[in-house]
Amino acid sequence: MLFGSRKPGRIDPIFSGLKAVIDHHRERDTLPPLTEADRLDGMTCLVTGPSSGLGRAIAPELARRGGRVILACREGHEGLAEAIRRESGNPEVSQRPLDLADLGSVTTLCDGLARDGVKLDLLVSNAGVAPLGNRLTGDGLAELFQVNFLASFLLANRLLDDDVLPRGRPTRRAPRIVITSSETHRTCPPIDFERFGQFPDFGLLDGTTWYGHSKLYVQTFACELARRLVKADGSPDVSVFSYCPGAVRTRISREGGLAGKVMTAYFIDPKVAMWPAVHLAASRTLEGRTGVYLYLRHVAAADARSADPRNGELLWQLGLEMLAARGA
Ligand SMILES: NC(=O)c1ccc[n+]([C@@H]2O[C@H](COP(=O)([O-])OP(=O)(O)OC[C@H]3O[C@@H](n4cnc5c(N)ncnc54)[C@H](OP(=O)(O)O)[C@@H]3O)[C@@H](O)[C@H]2O)c1
Repeated sequence: MLFGSRKPGRIDPIFSGLKAVIDHHRERDTLPPLTEADRLDGMTCLVTGPSSGLGRAIAPELARRGGRVILACREGHEGLAEAIRRESGNPEVSQRPLDLADLGSVTTLCDGLARDGVKLDLLVSNAGVAPLGNRLTGDGLAELFQVNFLASFLLANRLLDDDVLPRGRPTRRAPRIVITSSETHRTCPPIDFERFGQFPDFGLLDGTTWYGHSKLYVQTFACELARRLVKADGSPDVSVFSYCPGAVRTRISREGGLAGKVMTAYFIDPKVAMWPAVHLAASRTLEGRTGVYLYLRHVAAADARSADPRNGELLWQLGLEMLAARGA
C-alpha cells in the first residue's frame, strides 16, 4: 500500500485524499452491473443534503429511475426541486426544509411527513459537514457530532417509529436506508463513551481526524441499525447499507479556503462518485441483504470498532439519552 496504514489520530488530509484518489483509479469494480432495469418506479425516496455535491448528483439519478423524490434541505435552495424535475424529466420531485444543526427541525420534518401520510421506500442519509473548528450548534452540541451523526440518528429513528419508513412490507421490496460514511472512520481515535459526543478544538491539519471520528459514530450507527432491523429469520425488515464514495470534489472542504480548493482539485467528480450510493439504492441484486458497506465500487468490511455490537449498543443508548435530555 502506497501510504501504509496510518496511526489512529494522525490522518493527514492531503495523503488520505490522495490515497482515496489512487484507490479510485486502481479500483477493481466487483459490483454486479447496475442496469436500466434497476428502477425505483412507485417508490418514495428522501434524500438529505441534496443541494450540493454527492446529494445533488444522487437525487436526480433517483428521480430519473422513476423514484418520487423528496429533497430535505436547508433554506436558501429555492428552485432546487424544479431544477431536478427538469433534469430528470420526473415531475414527482418535492422539497421540504431540514436543518440537521437544529434537532427541532428534524422533528418538524418527521411530524410533517407522518401528518401527510408519506410512506418512504428509501432514505438516503447523506448530508454532512467538515467544519474547520469545533463549533457548537444551537442545541449546544459539536456541529460535527450533531449534523453528521446525532440528527441523522434522530431522523432515522423517528421515521421508523412513526411508520413513515415502514418495517417488513410483505408485498414490496424491503425499504432501504443508505448512509454516507467515509473510510476516515478507520483511522481516527476510538469513541470515548465517557465523553460521548465531545470533540476537542481542531484546525486544518487535524480536521480530517475529527471528521473521521464523526464518521466512526456514523459507521457504528449504520452497523447497529442493520443489526436491529432484521426479522427472526435473518432477512431484513429494512435494509441498511453504508458506503464511502472516495475523495470527491464537492463543497465539503468549503471552509478550507485555497488549501481546500487545491486539495480537492484532483478529487473525483460527484457524478462518478455517486454510483455506489445509486447502486445501494436501486440494485435488485441487493434485495434480501443488509449491513453491506461499500468502499468505492467494492464490498469492504467496516472497521472492527464500528462493527462491534457492544459499541453499537452503547452508542444507541447514549444517543437516545442525549436526545431525551433535549426533549427530542
Ligand atoms: N467529498 C468527499 O470527499 C466525501 C468523502 C466521504 C464522505 N463524504 C460525505 O458525503 C456526504 C455529502 O457531502 P459532499 O461531499 O457532497 O459535500 P457538500 O457538497 O458540502 O454537500 C453537503 C450537503 O449537506 C448539506 N448540509 C450541511 N449541513 C447541513 C445541515 N445543518 N442541515 C441539513 N443539511 C446540511 C449541505 O447543504 P447546504 O448546501 O445547505 O450547505 C449539502 O447539501 C457527507 O456526509 C460527507 O461527509 C464526502
